[in-house]
Amino acid sequence: MDINRPIIGPVEVKELHSSGKGIAYWNDKAYYVPWAIPNEQYWLQTENRRLGFRTASIIEIKKASNFRIKPICPHYFECGGCNFMHIDYSEQLNLKKIIVQNALKKYHVDYTVAEVGNSPKQINYRNKATYQIRVRQGKLLIGFHPEWTKNEIVEIESCYLLMPIINKYFNKIKNILNEFNNNKPLEHFLSLTIRANTQHQVMILMELLKSPDVSELSVLNAIKNLLNKGDSFYYYIKSNERYALPEYYHVKDTEPYIFEEIFQVKLRISPFTFFQNNKEVTELILNEIKSVIPIDTLSFIYDLYSGNGTLSLPLVFNKSVKLLGIEGNPMAVEDAKANAYDNSFATYIVGDILDTFNQHLIKLYPTPSLVILDPPRSGTLIEIQKNIIATGAPYIVYLSCNPLSLAWNLSQL
Ligand SMILES: C[S@@+](CC[C@H](N)C(=O)[O-])C[C@H]1O[C@@H](n2cnc3c(N)ncnc32)[C@H](O)[C@@H]1O
Repeated sequence: MDINRPIIGPVEVKELHSSGKGIAYWNDKAYYVPWAIPNEQYWLQTENRRLGFRTASIIEIKKASNFRIKPICPHYFECGGCNFMHIDYSEQLNLKKIIVQNALKKYHVDYTVAEVGNSPKQINYRNKATYQIRVRQGKLLIGFHPEWTKNEIVEIESCYLLMPIINKYFNKIKNILNEFNNNKPLEHFLSLTIRANTQHQVMILMELLKSPDVSELSVLNAIKNLLNKGDSFYYYIKSNERYALPEYYHVKDTEPYIFEEIFQVKLRISPFTFFQNNKEVTELILNEIKSVIPIDTLSFIYDLYSGNGTLSLPLVFNKSVKLLGIEGNPMAVEDAKANAYDNSFATYIVGDILDTFNQHLIKLYPTPSLVILDPPRSGTLIEIQKNIIATGAPYIVYLSCNPLSLAWNLSQL
């Protein structure tokens, strides 16, 4: 705490921002407050702006909410990966609904938001984690960056969100890295990604600064020896290219892919392919889509930002529907093609949506009965929206992980 920064208050937080932070108004200025709950009152200490936001931290809770609970995770207040764990779960759902309502209001979208449903699992659901690795004064640090800075690492024992098998492999690999680091600092190991499926298979991805030397190869070999039949292991060299795949190597005698089954469809996942991180919630979403859209009557679907086909293929399984997927990552497109159990009905195109999904393409294909799109966080561009409308599709399913970009996109329809 910086004792020179001004203290303000008592001040009440009325609402949460979509990031989960409370918004407190003081002298007509908005301060973003981590770990706040609406209707609580605080003494706050203002902080230096972070990423352009005026922020303040709670010094004292003057009036606490009945929904405030002790987070189960001991790393919660330093890690910054979760934002709602200090709030009772039923109230978390209520607040998430209000966040979506406020985002829609902000962009003047008149829409009634449904109740937010329970996640089938509140902990131990997440199937992927990326841990940062650094060596500082000879000591190996491995964990997560706190929310506001990439300079620090919060070391963790285990993460409640993750599937237990990921925590198990994390601790085993951490031990190996520490042992090797005691002999020779592992300066070139940058990050570790662990993915898992519900069949308890893992895919390990180790990021290195440069091609491994002999001693670094023995570290990779020791990690490989931890793995079981069915597991997969890659390492890759750090790349500053934002969109291209990095230089990567598949470790011999391990599997090239892992698979996850959604409904009856076995989905292949390659190392750099996006995969929905909560299988149970993905199934809920697909059931919701089925409850609204008469899937049996559909003849042709566009799947924009298709990834490996996770959203469209389970939906159309055993139906006589044709499918066109567009996706920027060539690796994900290869997965999608492999996942389309009978390739006669599905076509996948590798390309940037902005270049590929244009009037020319739309004229080449029949009018779709449904357009599904699951864009990255930033949402999608007006041009793409105009083309979606131009397809004449009677149904559009837009999946979004950012209420603000969703609301903005809806406001432009
Ligand atoms: C949120 S993921 C959804 C993937 C898939 N629909 C699923 O549910 O698994 C977004 C996908 O969009 C792809 N993507 C991002 N920007 C893109 C662009 N400009 N053009 C084409 N694909 C893009 C990413 O590679 C990623 O696979």
